[in-house]
Amino acid sequence: MLIAQISDLHVRPRGQLYKGLVDSNHLFSEAMAHLHQLDRRPDLVLLTGDLVDEGHPDEYAMLTTLLGELKLPYLVLPGNYDHRENFRAAFAGHAYLPKHGPLHYCVDDHPVRIIGLDSCQPGLHHGHIDAEGLAWLQTTLARDPLKPTVLMLHHPPFVSGIPYLDAYRYLEADALEAVVRTAPNVELVVCGHVHRSMVRRWAGTVVVACPSPATQIALQLQSDARPQSFTGPAACMLHLWHPAHGMVSHTSAIGPYPGPYPFF
Ligand SMILES: [Fe+2]
Repeated sequence: MLIAQISDLHVRPRGQLYKGLVDSNHLFSEAMAHLHQLDRRPDLVLLTGDLVDEGHPDEYAMLTTLLGELKLPYLVLPGNYDHRENFRAAFAGHAYLPKHGPLHYCVDDHPVRIIGLDSCQPGLHHGHIDAEGLAWLQTTLARDPLKPTVLMLHHPPFVSGIPYLDAYRYLEADALEAVVRTAPNVELVVCGHVHRSMVRRWAGTVVVACPSPATQIALQLQSDARPQSFTGPAACMLHLWHPAHGMVSHTSAIGPYPGPYPFF
């Protein structure tokens, strides 16, 4: 199974730029075109939050229009810049999304089970899942202790070392870790939020954070670093599952770049 991941699209209303500077709508179109031209067709695309930039219905209208270009099945998950109820309304046709409360869900139609965790709290930018959500996750994981499983949530449950990102990190990650640790069949945890590629060992599994097609947040590690972003390189991720070889996560830069050359 080939699982593509695009995160942090930050779609804007038609004709408007992200932060007044970046054509995030066009960059998302390029990300979808990138998936279409791969030599192997992804079986599923995970969109892991910040699908729009201000949570506005105009943005969701643009988002659903743009998603009309995507010729692959996809699952959606909110990020801190999404608006829970506008998001739910925009994807009312997605039967896996709950009708009320946090947008946690489990999709078990593929060789890999996909669990979406809504780590957002309306009006706040940091991540957290309440006791009820963790209990739902525990029950859902226990339902099948063998099938390979991918968890996705918007906020990486770790400290990145980039101070302006960590101000909006996932809080009380220990409680989530204790639940995930009970399920050795969690092959991978995929996140967005940080607009950078990151990897961490966590809860007996691996967490990877996905870059953004829109902007990449600067890698600065000093405690007084001031927030910065760059417009590239735009990228998405491809998580390749094979029953014998396990899960391998590839970062896939969205070109064009020079090449191909006849050497490797
Ligand atoms: Fe974002």
